[in-house]
Amino acid sequence: ETEEFLAAFQARIDAEEKIEPKDAMPEGYRRTLVRQIGQHAHSEIVGMLPEGNWITRAPSLKRKAVLLAKVQDEAGHGLYLYCAAETLGVTRDEMTEELLAGKAKYSSIFNYPTLTWADIGAIGWLVDGAAIMNQIPLCRCSFGPYARAMIRICKEESFHQRQGFEIMLTLCRGTEAQRAMAQDALDRWWWPSLMMFGPHDADSPHTEQSMTWKIKRFTNDELRQKFIDATVPQAEYLGLTVPDPELRWDETLNEGRGGYRHGSIDWDEFWRVVEGEGPMARDRIAARKKAWDDGAWVREAALAHAAKRAARNVA
Ligand code: ACO
Repeated sequence: ETEEFLAAFQARIDAEEKIEPKDAMPEGYRRTLVRQIGQHAHSEIVGMLPEGNWITRAPSLKRKAVLLAKVQDEAGHGLYLYCAAETLGVTRDEMTEELLAGKAKYSSIFNYPTLTWADIGAIGWLVDGAAIMNQIPLCRCSFGPYARAMIRICKEESFHQRQGFEIMLTLCRGTEAQRAMAQDALDRWWWPSLMMFGPHDADSPHTEQSMTWKIKRFTNDELRQKFIDATVPQAEYLGLTVPDPELRWDETLNEGRGGYRHGSIDWDEFWRVVEGEGPMARDRIAARKKAWDDGAWVREAALAHAAKRAARNVA
């Protein structure tokens, strides 16, 4: 890749042109997107598991219908994202094989168990809330297919966040036991939600280059700070306590607009989970492997059917 080529590519990025699949692009740009979009797609699909765990036990028909719809949305998000990654020359089968072999990452957050119904509220409120914070800027990502896929995904994610907050609100307005269940869920999901944004900027190997290529529009720490500032008042509205004794308002943050300072994140826990030692990591991959193996006959039948039709069309 000549310097001239790299400079011309960067000039397109700087001019806010969208890069499309057939355009010439640096190999590093392509690899970064395959990595990030692939990881993102896997996260959507693996993310169906912790919530799917509660579909049969949702407390009412209405809650069940909402949760079913939400989990199906996540499947759709995974499919758009696999398609976006496929435009870069990698196949969905290859990406799936990497996931099942433990080579491709997916979001750390989905390695935690959903112990109570309040966890479904906390996931919608916090996990989908964090996802939106990270994903709205991806609608302006320099790679066209990824940016376009994110628009619909973000609309659906905002419904997910609302439904989660509404579950939390209902619990917090309920009995003492329900309120305690909501607090317990916040206690367990708060720190893992902050970890979703990835390591601090100083420890994030990819951020600088991804910002230059306008794949990322904000750094991990910037997005984490936005999330905390948006979410702490919501916890207050619910009457819940954020499990961080060091959390405090600091009016000097965010260029004088104010923001919350927070306690330190347990990065040892984060890296353990990322490396596949999360409490539910083995179950998650085993569930994906079983689904892949159980679905083999469907893929084979669909291919055989397509081949038969193609042969008939030729005849
Ligand atoms: N869970 C698992 N791995 C993570 C996480 C996380 N929460 N955060 C960072 N990592 C990994 C990165 O993938 C990278 O690994 P790699 O080099 O082996 O590929 C490594 O840690 C270093 O991190 P960064 O340099 O900060 O990586 P990057 O610039 O890709 O930033 C981020 C990470 C913010 C997650 C980015 O990839 C991103 O915005 N992805 C799209 C959004 C997404 O995937 N969301 C999934 C959860 S939301 C949902 O599905 C509902």
